[in-house]
Parts: sequence; C-alpha cells; structure tokens
Amino acid sequence: MTDRTDSNGRLLVVDDTPVSAEVLSEVLRKANYDVRTARDGLSAIEIVKQDPPELILLDVIMPGIDGFETCRRLKANPDHAEIPIIFITGSDDTDSRVQGLEAGAVDYITKPFEYTEAISRIEVHLRLYRLNRTLEHQVEERTAQLRETVEELQTMQMKLIQGEKMSALGQLVAGVAHEINNPVNFIQGNLVHAENYVNDLLTLIALYQKHTPNVNEELEEAIESADLEFLQEDLPKLLKSMRVGTDRIRNIVKSLRNFSRTDDSKIEKTDIHDGLDSTLMILSNRTKAKPDRSEVQIVKIYGTLPLIECYPGPINQVFMNILANATDALEEKYDSMSAMAREEFQPTIWIETVSPDDDHIEITIADNGPGIPAKIRHQIFDSFFTTKPKGKGTGIGMSISREIVVDQHHGKLDCQSSSMGAKFIITLPVSQPQLDRDA
Ligand SMILES: Nc1ncnc2c1ncn2[C@@H]1O[C@H](COP(=O)(O)OP(=O)(O)O)[C@@H](O)[C@H]1O
Ligand SMILES: [Mg+2]
Repeated sequence: MTDRTDSNGRLLVVDDTPVSAEVLSEVLRKANYDVRTARDGLSAIEIVKQDPPELILLDVIMPGIDGFETCRRLKANPDHAEIPIIFITGSDDTDSRVQGLEAGAVDYITKPFEYTEAISRIEVHLRLYRLNRTLEHQVEERTAQLRETVEELQTMQMKLIQGEKMSALGQLVAGVAHEINNPVNFIQGNLVHAENYVNDLLTLIALYQKHTPNVNEELEEAIESADLEFLQEDLPKLLKSMRVGTDRIRNIVKSLRNFSRTDDSKIEKTDIHDGLDSTLMILSNRTKAKPDRSEVQIVKIYGTLPLIECYPGPINQVFMNILANATDALEEKYDSMSAMAREEFQPTIWIETVSPDDDHIEITIADNGPGIPAKIRHQIFDSFFTTKPKGKGTGIGMSISREIVVDQHHGKLDCQSSSMGAKFIITLPVSQPQLDRDA
C-alpha cells in the first residue's frame, strides 16, 4: 500500500477489464499515486461515498450502469460533485468523449494509454481541484466571518441606538425634573410661611370674636356668608393637604432624577433599593389598575443591603427591562384568561433583595405570569429575540441587561421559569475592580 499522506494524490480507477485496470493502476502507483480500484459503477459510487478520492478515472463501457450513468450519479450528489472525473475511452471513440464531457467529466484519456500524457492530465486536474477546494474553503470561511461581523454590527448599532435613546430620554427627564424641582421647592417653601400667616390670622380673628361679642349687622352677614366657622376649621387642613401634594411631587421628581442618572461613566456607591423604588415609581402607571385590568400587586421583600459600587443609570435600566417584561407577561396572561379565571387571579411581582455573603447582593424579580417555555429559555438573552408582536417587542432588553450585569458589572443574570411564572436573579458584586473605576 502506498503511504497516503505522502502520495501525489488519491485516485480511484473504475474499469471492468482486470488487465487494463491493473496496468494503469501499476503505472500510477509507480508515479506515487494512492490508487484504489473498482470493477463497476455501483461499487465505485459506494467507495466514493465511504472515502472520497481526489480524482476518478472512469471507463465508459462496463456491466451494470455504464460510465456515463456512474458519472451522472456521482455529479448528482453535492458532496462529491466537485471530484474531477476523467473518462477512459477508445482512441477513435469521439462520441464517447463528447458524451463523457456532457455527463460532467473534466477530461478523457485514451486506450491504449499514453502514460506520460495521462499522468500530466491527472496532475493538472488534481491541481485545479485542490485549488478550487482551497478557494471554496476560504470563501466559506470569509463568508462566515462576514456574516458574524454583520450580526455583531447590527447588534452594536441597535444597542447604540437604544443607548442613545435611553441617554437622550434620561437627559430630557433629568432636565424636566430639574425644572419642576425649582417651582415645587418655591411653593413648598412658601407654604410654610402661608401656614404661619394663616394661623396668625385665625388667632387674630378668634381674638376679635372674643373681645367683640356684639358686632354690627353688616359684619354679622359677612361672617355668615363666608361661613367663618367652617373656614377656620378647613383652611389649616387645606394647607396641610397642599403640603402632602408638594411632598409627593418632590418624591416623584427625586425618583425621576434618580432613575435618569445619565452619568454612565462613573461608578458610584449606590443604594439598590432607591433604584428599584424609582423604577417602580416610573412603571407605576403601567402596574396600576386599568378599567379592563386589575392592578399588579408589588410585593417587596427588601433585606439589609450594603451600598454597592455600580453604574446607577445602567443598573436602573436593567431593573426597568426586567420589570417591564414581567408587566408585559402579566398583561399577556391576564388578557388570555376567561372572565371567571380573572376573578381568581392576582397579578403579582415579587422583588426580593438579599446579601448572601459580604461581597455580593442578590436581587430576585419574580412574576406569576405565563413563564418562559423551556424551548426558548436559552434564547431570551439573544439580541433581537422576541415573542412579542412587531412594534411592541424589540428583543434587546434582555441582551442589554445581560451585558450590563455580566460584562459591565462582573455579575450574574439567571433566569428560572415554571408554570407558576418567571424569575430573574441578578447577582452583583459589592465592589468593582479598581481598573473600571479609573476608566
Ligand atoms: N417575565 C417574563 N415572562 C415571560 N417571558 C419573558 C419574561 N421576560 C422575558 N421574557 C421573554 O424574553 C423575550 C425577550 O425579552 P426582551 O429581550 O426584553 O425583548 P422584548 O421584551 O422586546 O420581547 C420576550 O419576548 C419574552 O418572550
Ligand atoms: Mg423587554
């Protein structure tokens, strides 16, 4: 047997005439080719299937299927269609040569053999075949690389757009919050004085009433029409409720400013509960009761957490993405239910925070929505994967979240799901490597 690795090429000779097959094979082996032989078309096809050669020398006239048919069948299989086939024809058989070339052969050699010529033809076709394969291989490789790059670019572009949007929106919200903050502070600051003045005035009136029990008719009428008694009682309450109102506005503004912290470039020691609460506040319009939907109940089970080092803006975005998905899931489940089932169903989101050890915190966000089917669970973190209708889902929320948690913060983002609902577990380190902080 010829050593296949050192041979000039791996050939298959298909010829039913033992003598002519042997002679040709012998010559080729001497020229350092690795030669196998087949006696008919079908066994040739079988050999090619098992262990494809680099070139086939094919006799035309054979029992069973002839050379042309063998050639056609080999060419029909895309796995070996590229293997060059050289026909062996009689020296005066022009017809066969033409038919052979039509069947897909690359060349022919004639009997009796002119060995030097035959070998140079084999040599040329082997070289062409190998060159072709290398090229094909390179093209395939490049195509795959290009495809990967295009995908990466698309993802990156989408994330940039999303990031831009978030940061533009963040800036807008921060700006609006800032603008609201001033007048609200102004109102609240003056309310304190107003309360004092009103109290003084009321005391004064009380004194007048005490020291001037008999008033004239005009005054009597005015007191009555103003319903002074009620006014005295109600005015302080009214001022108090105005203060409650401005307090609430101030809280909303604080949440907005907290949520929209746009300074992504700085790691800060952050209270995660503040982030969660701000996010919930912003989402509250979606979780509260609607005419056709009951309220989403939020159950907070907050543990004692240390301040953690993180980029607050992006971390809030992660909370937003996960909480928004939970709300979507609950809506979807609610909408798919019968009126009767709805009576029994309390859409709920549980938010639990714990500090499992000194170096980590864990935030679990669970819902009692439909859950995530096992067969798509591994896909939800892929860019652009969404099960939501066009216009509603973009499929980047989870992929961005994973990037923020895992790549940016060296944390973990896990997903569990059952028929009871979905659960996302975010694990974050309490401190970040020094390197990032200076970046
Ligand atoms: N809490 C959840 N319950 C059920 N499915 C979820 C939940 N969170 C995420 N998913 C699934 O993960 C997919 C990807 O989520 P995401 O990346 O945020 O994209 P989008 O929300 O735009 O679809 C969603 O389309 C949904 O199928
Ligand atoms: Mg989403």
